[in-house]
Amino acid sequence: MVERDETILLVDDEESILSSLRRLFRPDNYHICTALSAEEGLAILDQNPVWLVISDNGMPRTNGVQFLKEVRDRWPDVVRVMLTGYADLNSAMEAINRGEVYRFVTKPWDPEGLRLLVREGLEHYRLVQENTRMRALIEEQNAKLKRWNESLQQTVEERTKELKQRNEELAGLYRQLKGSFVEAIKVFTGLIELRDPTIGGHARRVAGLSKSLAAQMALREEEAKNVEVGALLHDIGKIGIPDEILRKNERLLSAGEQARLRQHPILGQAALQIVDHLDSTGVLIRHHHERWDGHGYPDELKGEAIPLGSRIIAVANAFDHHRKASSLGLADFVESQLGLGYNGPFDPAVILALKGIIDGSTVDGESIEVAMDVSQLREGLVLARDLRTSTGILLISKGETLKRAYLLKLILYERQKLIPSTVYVYHPRT
Ligand SMILES: [Fe+2]
Repeated sequence: MVERDETILLVDDEESILSSLRRLFRPDNYHICTALSAEEGLAILDQNPVWLVISDNGMPRTNGVQFLKEVRDRWPDVVRVMLTGYADLNSAMEAINRGEVYRFVTKPWDPEGLRLLVREGLEHYRLVQENTRMRALIEEQNAKLKRWNESLQQTVEERTKELKQRNEELAGLYRQLKGSFVEAIKVFTGLIELRDPTIGGHARRVAGLSKSLAAQMALREEEAKNVEVGALLHDIGKIGIPDEILRKNERLLSAGEQARLRQHPILGQAALQIVDHLDSTGVLIRHHHERWDGHGYPDELKGEAIPLGSRIIAVANAFDHHRKASSLGLADFVESQLGLGYNGPFDPAVILALKGIIDGSTVDGESIEVAMDVSQLREGLVLARDLRTSTGILLISKGETLKRAYLLKLILYERQKLIPSTVYVYHPRT
């Protein structure tokens, strides 16, 4: 289908030629303009979107070559075709060479040849226009993309700057909060001690020793801080216990009073439960009276089921009471506890750490010997003494690591009284 916007302009000073050209192109349904002179032709080009011009060369005043040159200068995309007689061939060739004319056609023209040439010329115009349009579109999109990129980059930079600033503010705020948090806990502890002056600095000393024990046992910073805060607040639940119970010697308490006093770890945990940040500290406080041998309170937890932080606070607490009530020194306290091995109230590992603090050096756990019942032995422990049968036959040498296969045999031998019930192993490293 031919589009009506395919406009062609015919220029010739002879009406008859214009008429025959019109007739020639009628079947093609182009929009056709005609002009009898170059001047008239330029005026039409000024007013109409012409695609293609066919101009006679031999016209009075302005000839075809001059006319088409001006068309090229003012409307470079318009396709220019020149009609020429044989006499003008040279000037027509020159015009082509100078790029002023797309094609030339000699008179008399071959009708079908001219129609085909015009068809091709219009196609050429359409391609040039499409190309220009596409190029403009690409340039516009490129410019748009560039603007987007610039504004995106700017937005990212602004957001990054804002976030960085916000992070710094938050970090500063967090440091401030953390600092004032521990300070507030200390003030709080001072208030608890005001209630019972006899306690005098107990919580602070327990916290100090707990902190050293945590460091000796290489706890992570966050965990160590938790143990210290837990130690500072370990007896906070005593606020809820009547004065007459607190002031009595524990051994003289009635069963009811003792049960009431034993509520204080639970009351302490409950008091801290409203503060999110102190949840884990509350757990340490709840279990600070549990015993390694399982005879503590409130939950009668045993061994490693007791949180490590609570085991540390328990040792620090016991030592502080011991120092006040007994003439025995720290070293004696440690020795007496170590003698109990795994059967005492405290975690031997914490006692070893305490020994390390006294000795002023890190204790090598493997150099400490612990007595164990055969039933307590487990895979991976290292024998501290040769294990012999009752008749003196060597079963396992000192320094050997206990394997699962040994454990079963040892239990069988012990039941048959073939070996002693106590075996000496090195304290496992914590
Ligand atoms: Fe307590």
